[in-house]
Amino acid sequence: MKIKSLLAAGVTLAMLAGCGSSTPASDGAAEQPAEEGGEAAAEAKTYNVGVAIYQFDDNFMTLYRNEIEAYFKTKETDTVKYNVTIVDGKNDMAEQSNQVDNFITQGMDVIILNLVQTSSADAIIDKVVGAGIPLVLINREPLGTDGDESYAGILDNATVCYVGADARQSGTYQGEIIAELPDHGDINGDGKVSYVMIEGDPENIDAQYRTEFSIKALEDAGIEVECLDDQVGNWAQAKGQEIAANALTQYGDKVEVIFCNNDAMALGAAASITAANRTVGEDIYLVGVDALEECVEMVNNGTMTGTVLNDANGQAHKAVDVAIELLEGKSIQNYYWVDYVKVVKE
Ligand code: GAL
Repeated sequence: MKIKSLLAAGVTLAMLAGCGSSTPASDGAAEQPAEEGGEAAAEAKTYNVGVAIYQFDDNFMTLYRNEIEAYFKTKETDTVKYNVTIVDGKNDMAEQSNQVDNFITQGMDVIILNLVQTSSADAIIDKVVGAGIPLVLINREPLGTDGDESYAGILDNATVCYVGADARQSGTYQGEIIAELPDHGDINGDGKVSYVMIEGDPENIDAQYRTEFSIKALEDAGIEVECLDDQVGNWAQAKGQEIAANALTQYGDKVEVIFCNNDAMALGAAASITAANRTVGEDIYLVGVDALEECVEMVNNGTMTGTVLNDANGQAHKAVDVAIELLEGKSIQNYYWVDYVKVVKE
């Protein structure tokens, strides 16, 4: 009940404040007919929050951005409102750069940024910091970082941080899921695991680490591996389907494991596995990352071998919490890490 009325108040105030307006909502709110709690709301401060997502057409980032919006709502009080504007970078760095410029012109109080290209991190961070706006980078870790080490000193800045998950962990979990199977992934018993790798965007550290660390986990377990094919599917289901279909045609029964850097591509690969009359768990294994709802179902019904939870809610909450701390002028860490979780059939 309480949440409902807060939400209603939030919507009204956000509309009154208008996109990008830095004027406190109190002026407009005062003109509203008196309602219950109206007096307190009249003193509300509205913060303008700009959220730039690399591409709306991405299953995982859709869950993530929806949760950012929903969680900001739960953080509203009678006196504090968040006017959240979320924009689609359409996987185009020039477009996203313009969107950040607009956020700066509009006087956003804080920016949450999912970079299209991490190689542009320097330039974008510089301009946001230069404009005096605090910045929370999410999901795509700027290149050059290594664990807690700061990115060329840029993230040492008191008002810039990165919230994400360490992709090495997700890759390792994928490899372990296969290594822990009774046959360790060697279905045909020839002493090695022959696999196909379907990669996300190659510039993305998540794709690089998942590719590297999934195989490393097998090798660390003393398992011999053979790479049959390694292709870029750019996180997309249709590409995953196409790459898996081609690999299954070309290598047939030799393919024992298909590793996908994310679940969207694994969904595509699953369709191709079915079309090729192969059966996950019997003559082929399939792993992804993200733990999309449909993939968790597939793991439970055996049509996927396993996945790894990429905690969209946990990361969204952390990003929002830190953004609010920045708005309140609190000091922050430069890195926040949210754990991945292995998902296999119970
Ligand atoms: C990854 C996620 C992918 C994709 C990518 C976008 O963490 O696993 O599905 O959303 O982020 O950068």
